[in-house]
Amino acid sequence: MSPDVSKPVLSPHNLPWVEKYRPDKLDDLISHEEIIKTITKFIDEDQLPHLLLYGPPGTGKTSTILACAKKLFTTQQFNSMVLELNASDDRGIGIVRGQILSFASTRTLIKTGFKLIILDEADAMTNDAQNALRRIIEKYTDNVRFCIICNYLSKIIPALQSRCTKFRFGPLAPEQIMPRLEHVVKEENVTVTDDGKQALITLSGGDMRRVLNVLQSTWLAYGLVNEDNVYSCVGHPLPVDIKNIINWLLNENYQMAYSKVLDLKTRKGLALQDILTEVQVFVNKIEFPDDVIIELIIKMAQIEERVMNGCNEAVQLNSLVAAFQKPREIEVP
Ligand SMILES: Nc1ncnc2c1ncn2[C@@H]1O[C@H](COP(=O)(O)OP(=O)(O)OP(=O)(O)O)[C@@H](O)[C@H]1O
Ligand SMILES: [Mg+2]
Repeated sequence: MSPDVSKPVLSPHNLPWVEKYRPDKLDDLISHEEIIKTITKFIDEDQLPHLLLYGPPGTGKTSTILACAKKLFTTQQFNSMVLELNASDDRGIGIVRGQILSFASTRTLIKTGFKLIILDEADAMTNDAQNALRRIIEKYTDNVRFCIICNYLSKIIPALQSRCTKFRFGPLAPEQIMPRLEHVVKEENVTVTDDGKQALITLSGGDMRRVLNVLQSTWLAYGLVNEDNVYSCVGHPLPVDIKNIINWLLNENYQMAYSKVLDLKTRKGLALQDILTEVQVFVNKIEFPDDVIIELIIKMAQIEERVMNGCNEAVQLNSLVAAFQKPREIEVP
C-alpha cells in the first residue's frame, strides 16, 4: 500500500537503525577497502584462512564476518554451517570442549567447503578456553575456519594470534561516515542541519553505531537534529559551554567561577568527567608557561582519577576550580 518499496521486505518497522542499516553485503561496507578486497579475494579463490578481526567498537567487524558468511552460505545452509558465539554465551573451557569441538569435528554431508565458527567479542574468553582452542584450530582446519573478533588484541593469547590472519579495523574517518549518515537521513526522512551532522561525527569518535544511535534518539526526542539537540541528547557539553567554562575558570575569582560552573553543570546535567575531557583539550591549545601547564594537567589527571573512583563530584569540581588558581593569576598582568 505504501509507495515506499525500497526498504528491505523483512525488516520490521521497529528495528533500531543500527540493525536496519547493518550492511548486508561486503560491498555495502563503507570503509576498510583493502581489508574487504583481501577477504573477498580469499573467498573467491576458496582460500579463506582463519581470521582475527580487531579494533574499536562500531567499526564493522561483526558486519564484515556476517556478510562473509552470507556470501559463503545460502540461507538454508547457514544454520548447519555457521556457529556464532558472542559474549552473551558462556565461553569458558567447557564450551570449547563441548559445543565448539563437536561442531568442528562433525563432517558435513556436502563434502566440499568448510564450516565457519565465529567467536565474536573474544576478549571475554578465558585464557584456559583460548589455550584449549589452539589444538582444535589446527586439527580441524580442513573442515572448519575460525573467525575471532575482539576489541583488544592484547586479550588474545599470542598462540591464537599466530594461527590467524589479522586485520585491524580502525575508527571510521568523517568522510566515510558522512555518505552513510546522509543515506540513512534520506531513507528515514530526518530533518538534520549541517552542524548537527558535524556534531554527530565529532561525538562518535569514528564509531558508526554511535552515529546511528544518537541520530535516532535525537530525532525521536527533539524532531530536529541540530548541534544543540545532539549534544543535549547525550548530555555532552556543547563547545560553547566549554568555552564559557574555560573563560570563568581563567577570569573570574574563585567563588564566582565555582558557582557559575556549578550552575551550568546542574542546569544542563553535565558530567564532570565530560567537562574534564573537553577542558583538557582546550587547555592544551592555550599558551601557558611550561611549569604552569604541567602542574595544571597533573592536577586535572588526579581529579579525573578521583572522579572515576566515585568521589564526590561537588568536591572534585571545587578542586578543578582550585587547580586553575595559578593560571588565573598569570592572566591578570
Ligand atoms: N564499515 C561500516 N559500514 C557501514 N555501516 C557500519 C560500518 N561499521 C559499522 N556500521 C554500522 O554500525 C553497526 C555496528 O557495526 P558492527 O556490529 O559491525 O560493529 P563491530 O565492529 O562489531 O563493533 P563491536 O566491537 O562493538 O562489536 C552496524 O549495524 C552498522 O549499522
Ligand atoms: Mg561486534
